[in-house]
Amino acid sequence: MANYGHFDDSNREYVITRPDTPLPWLNYFGQDEFFGMATQTAGGYTFWKDAKLRRLTRYRYNNNPMDNDGRFLYVKQGKSVWNPGWKPTRTKLDAFECRHGLGYSRITGKKDGIEVEQLMFIPPGENLEVWKISVRNKTKKPQKLSLFSYVEFCFFEALNDMTNYQRTYSIGEVEIEGSAIYHKTEYRERRNHYTLFGCTRKIDGYDTSRDAFVGVHHGLHDPKAVMAGKCTNSRAFGWNPVGAQQINLSLKPGQEETFAIILAYVDQGDLPKFDSPMVMNKTKGREILARYSDMKVVDAAFNAVKERWESLLSIYQAPKVPNVHLQRMVNTWNQAQCMATFNLSRSASGYETGIGRGMGYRDSNQDILGFVHLLPARARQRILDIASTQLADGTCFHQYQPLTKKGNADIGGGFNDDPLWLILSTCAYIRETGDLTILNEPCGYADKPGSKDPLLHHIETSIQYTLNNRGPHALPLIGHADWNDCLNLNCHSKEPNESFQTAGDIAGSKAESVMIAGLFLYATRDLVKLYHFMGQTQDASRIQGHYDDMLKTVEEQAWDGAWYTRAFDAESKPIGSKVCKEGKIYIESQAWCVLGGAGQNNGRAKKALQAVDKYLYTPEHGCALQYPPYSTYHSELGEVSSYPPGYKENAGVFSHNNTWIHIGWTMFGEGEKALEYYLSICPSAKKDHDVYRSEPYVYAQMTASQFSPTPGEGKNSWLTGTGAWSFVVASQSILGVQPDYTGLRIDPCIPKKWKGFSVSRKFRGVTYSIEVTNPKSKSKGVKSLKIDGQKIAGNVIPLPTDGRTAVKVEVTLGA
Ligand code: BGC
Ligand code: NOJ
Repeated sequence: MANYGHFDDSNREYVITRPDTPLPWLNYFGQDEFFGMATQTAGGYTFWKDAKLRRLTRYRYNNNPMDNDGRFLYVKQGKSVWNPGWKPTRTKLDAFECRHGLGYSRITGKKDGIEVEQLMFIPPGENLEVWKISVRNKTKKPQKLSLFSYVEFCFFEALNDMTNYQRTYSIGEVEIEGSAIYHKTEYRERRNHYTLFGCTRKIDGYDTSRDAFVGVHHGLHDPKAVMAGKCTNSRAFGWNPVGAQQINLSLKPGQEETFAIILAYVDQGDLPKFDSPMVMNKTKGREILARYSDMKVVDAAFNAVKERWESLLSIYQAPKVPNVHLQRMVNTWNQAQCMATFNLSRSASGYETGIGRGMGYRDSNQDILGFVHLLPARARQRILDIASTQLADGTCFHQYQPLTKKGNADIGGGFNDDPLWLILSTCAYIRETGDLTILNEPCGYADKPGSKDPLLHHIETSIQYTLNNRGPHALPLIGHADWNDCLNLNCHSKEPNESFQTAGDIAGSKAESVMIAGLFLYATRDLVKLYHFMGQTQDASRIQGHYDDMLKTVEEQAWDGAWYTRAFDAESKPIGSKVCKEGKIYIESQAWCVLGGAGQNNGRAKKALQAVDKYLYTPEHGCALQYPPYSTYHSELGEVSSYPPGYKENAGVFSHNNTWIHIGWTMFGEGEKALEYYLSICPSAKKDHDVYRSEPYVYAQMTASQFSPTPGEGKNSWLTGTGAWSFVVASQSILGVQPDYTGLRIDPCIPKKWKGFSVSRKFRGVTYSIEVTNPKSKSKGVKSLKIDGQKIAGNVIPLPTDGRTAVKVEVTLGA
């Protein structure tokens, strides 16, 4: 078993100690409007707001070698040419380390006594990326070397950039001024922005033509100019503009040189566009470079990144958890992943190309569940943005573009679970903040220009949508698909070139989803509580009525004998039932029926979880999505049967849905099971990285299951709903600190052998220091709760009314 690195928990870093990880291991920079992605070998790219419409640097997905474009530094010393991040030259290094931290990565490479460190980050609130570069002579002799920087510019609109060469080969434009390269393609026409690639130190040469720097028949592993030791001072006219700078260094023994490279997105705003014909007004670019030429400014910007993360993370910290994996995930990495999914939804990662999907309706609503405690004001705005892409009849655009905030017409709507997720995000926001005013915010409907209907109207519309769209069993119609994007029961696709995601549906279909029914139970129960909190008891009982009806329907129509049926197809035949040859049991309907409160009084909920345990679960990899996998394609089922058995939605371990089962176990006080299941998909707990392959610090969407030929192989890391939901599992269901309308509710569910743990939680302006002890070795049940020494009844900590901002909470389990 090879060792690729380790966690440095006190610094909140993952330290990669060899560059040839089984797959590129990625990190993100930025959390406002400007974002960068970088792997341990400095691969990746940078964009402003929208990876499709404002991409600054190029990245070729699915390349071979994989991950071959990025932010590179080359060292040329004598005959030797190397990169501190090993790639692209792959020259053997004497030492290599990459520290992925929160919002930054620090790559250090050493060869022949020369050490080069590249610290990359995006300062808070800025539209620029900094590479702080330190070059050290670790030898006892003076050393001479040349350092070269390199990025390839993207022409902002990434799809056109990678497909329309008859145009792009003729439009590239740059300007060079001192140590700065300005990439200004399309600036002469409709763009009012450009890219600055500047060095804070005097440079000894540059190139902006890729053909000149790399060479048409060379590659990034042997760029012509670097091999020759000299840039050519080329100016790009068309073709492929790049940014490359040469810096010659003479270092005394022990000497270190430090400077920075800045990659910035500059919006010209109201400034005049040109100084003279063809000469761009560079005032803003010059100002940025001047500002960052002071290394104190660079260091302060880096500290600001660290401080910002520490302040965000101080909202929820659990410092004394008896399990190291849960502890580091809940305290650090899981929250970092929640930040990434909140910001980027499913748009840009090592697997999402930034041109395919924008923000997802259901995805972004769920992402809020793991993010709302960090920056509730941003969650608030997001909820309103999402709601505005709903149509007046309740249909939702399945995706929208972050730059325009407009629904994506290519994919359209008709994913019938979408509307209900809005209720979950809204209730989570109100439980976190107590802010009911969000419900009155006008957000209008996408198909009613100028409409100002408030958020609460959308919520009622969503409920009504599900009620209005029901099938022969009175269960919700599935539409194009539900949470399982691949359960396409209405498209009957036979055309191989057609995307299941956009294939049309037959009209008047009767296909129904039990998962949506369960989600409806969950959402209505949430809403009932909200209406009570608002004092609207009539509305609460109206919604309770819908809950009761749906519950009755689920119990009457969807119980299959030992678990809940998954769906009914267009001909009303059951899916996920013992009568099926394959796909007899699915995970999602067990999860959502249980979470929605079905099967509580008749033993079915417990049985449903036990069925998951029996047919779907393995301790090594987690739960497969269904059993048995489909061995052949079924046009009446759609994409779910298109995948080879054991992958993706065809019985792969889809981490996201596992988390709901974890919550299910905690509802039954099964602390051992909850933790064991939690660890089964936890990246930090993965033992063999050559098998798992994906990053050990963030969740992957999918792990090949026991039914596949490659069990345990993780894929599609970072941008998955698993991020938010596993934070909910760890922080609220296992450690049991749950924001509720009237205060923090304490309801842990832990392994019996845990003696206790502590949580520090900032909630509505108060810091709660919570100590949980478990003297009787129980899993669940709060025996006593003391608030600043005073015993109180129940398990909800009331909000202080006397202005206290720090509250001590002692919890004893064992009821
Ligand atoms: C994948 C799903 C995904 C969908 C999004 C499908 O091919 O299997 O997991 O949600 O594409 O477009
Ligand atoms: C990934 C998608 O982003 C998400 O919306 C969907 O629920 C899952 N795949 C399952 O199909």
